Amino acid sequence: MLNVALPKGRLGEKVYAMFEKAGYECPSIKENNRKLIFENEEKQVRYFWVKPSDVSIYVERGAADIGVAGKDILLEYSPDIYELLDLDMGKCRMAVAGKKDFYDDNTRTLKVATKFVNIAKNHYASKCRDIDIIKLNGSIEIAPILGLSDVIVDIVETGTTLKENDLEVIETIVPISARLIANKSSFKFKTKEIENVVESMKAQVKSND
Ligand code: PRP
Repeated sequence: MLNVALPKGRLGEKVYAMFEKAGYECPSIKENNRKLIFENEEKQVRYFWVKPSDVSIYVERGAADIGVAGKDILLEYSPDIYELLDLDMGKCRMAVAGKKDFYDDNTRTLKVATKFVNIAKNHYASKCRDIDIIKLNGSIEIAPILGLSDVIVDIVETGTTLKENDLEVIETIVPISARLIANKSSFKFKTKEIENVVESMKAQVKSND
């Protein structure tokens, strides 16, 4: 049985369609209900809908053999997993943003609000810039407006949230996309099944180019 952790939401639905094309269909997943686990015994596959930021936890601990997680989560939490394939979906970027008149005064510690504490720390450590991290859990864009922070480190997709809050990108840290990941020991013991998925998905990603 191949256990697959899918990120709940639109991205997860697209990803499931790729698994379906790879031969791992599970029709019951399309039922309109609140179930979180779906299984197709004939195809030897079981899917779990999990919070996108939790996929790598299920995979790292072996509750799922494979899953799909954003590169943002992989960079932030460095889970001990194999990253098998860039799915070229869920594309966005991790960026530093601030108010339009933001000026970086190097003599002062920079106040940075973010959900992505490690990404922000690593980014500024590489520039030898002293920062004070303010960890938030959402609506990060409010922080510079209220003077809670000087800048934010956050995901920018369309740029609409920044624009509508009179903020702008100061610099891009790294491009982000969804990745197929595997548990390390599952990869050892279910190599054939997992490689089948990887090969099919690779072909699907290519044909979408
Ligand atoms: C994310 C991110 C930005 C927004 C960017 O927030 O934190 O706020 O999306 O998207 P855009 O560039 O297309 O506007 P999310 O919706 O995940 O909610 P959050 O406030 O809980 O982080």
